[in-house]
Amino acid sequence: MIKNSPLEWPEPIVRVQSLSKICIDSIPKRFIKPLSDRASIITSSDYDANVPIIDLGDLNGDPDTIASTLGQISEACHEWGFFQVVNHGVNHDLMDMARETWRKFFHLPMEVKEQYANSPNTYEGYGSRLGIKKGAILDWSDYYYLHYLPLSLKDYNKWPHVPPSCREVIDEYGRELMKLCRKLMKVLSINLGLEEENLQKAFGGEDIGACLRVNFYPKCPKPDLTLGLSSHSDPGGMTLLLPDEQVAGLQVRKNNNWITVKPAPHAFIVNIGDQIQVLSNAIYKSVEHRVIVNSSKERVSLAFFYNPKSDIPIEPAKELVKPDRPALYTAMTFDEYRLFIRMKGPCGKSHMESLKSPT
Ligand code: OGA
Ligand code: NI
Repeated sequence: MIKNSPLEWPEPIVRVQSLSKICIDSIPKRFIKPLSDRASIITSSDYDANVPIIDLGDLNGDPDTIASTLGQISEACHEWGFFQVVNHGVNHDLMDMARETWRKFFHLPMEVKEQYANSPNTYEGYGSRLGIKKGAILDWSDYYYLHYLPLSLKDYNKWPHVPPSCREVIDEYGRELMKLCRKLMKVLSINLGLEEENLQKAFGGEDIGACLRVNFYPKCPKPDLTLGLSSHSDPGGMTLLLPDEQVAGLQVRKNNNWITVKPAPHAFIVNIGDQIQVLSNAIYKSVEHRVIVNSSKERVSLAFFYNPKSDIPIEPAKELVKPDRPALYTAMTFDEYRLFIRMKGPCGKSHMESLKSPT
């Protein structure tokens, strides 16, 4: 490929939502995953497991309550790389409104949505695949991707104009989630034994990046043969997911099993991304996750990605590099890292492997 030439999708884009309407009892071959990637029935002991639910209101309590809450978050980061937060300060009506506004968007006529069709250059807009490998096996989902920060990348023209309230709701939602991310960054810094602003500063201070990917998983007549989103870790810093409370689908890898997250009412699901794995010198890991689909209900989720400033080197915090724990990763900017991911699409944690320092 010639460097800097604009990228195109390798094949015509087919909207999964349209396929879902015409596929009655089978799905096209290109959505059928190899056996090893498919979701299988899990054992009963794992069936009951759930990603920990943490009450962030307790961070305003007495010193013992604060210490216990920090401890719960620390344990969840080590054990799961995932946790759910309640009492997080984001208005519940705003959360519902954000999800339902996007649901309405996905139910607009296809001609309207096609006006926002995206390309693999920036992925902004309405999309139906990740990665540009010709002949790749695809995921059973459509999505909408947009930049919220930095302001230089925020472009209302690339945000939906309809439903009419869309932009205001997204703006307000983004503002509230930024506050929550800031708070969680402090918690993670403290838990890593760093000064509380350390991670935020390493991310570039005020000048960080944030984007939203809204995932739409249509009903699927053969849910056992495919996945809504293939296994991946999130490339950025930290993700706040607003799941569909009515429809489970997110699965998190734990001890070689896949645990289906049971969302708590009005909780956000928080997870560590690859950049925090690097900054923490792998004390925290970005854990693989994937999404399963089902035959009776569509599912909508909003993933808010809180990312480092894209052109500064990200490397293990010097306080976390010790003679007995050398730096596990070499420095890379998020721009460089993201470029790499965008070419390949979701593929477990293989991107992280490629970052490892030669030893
Ligand atoms: C993502 C993601 C999970 C979900 O968008 O990166 O992991 O439940 N989404 O949609
Ligand atoms: Ni993800």
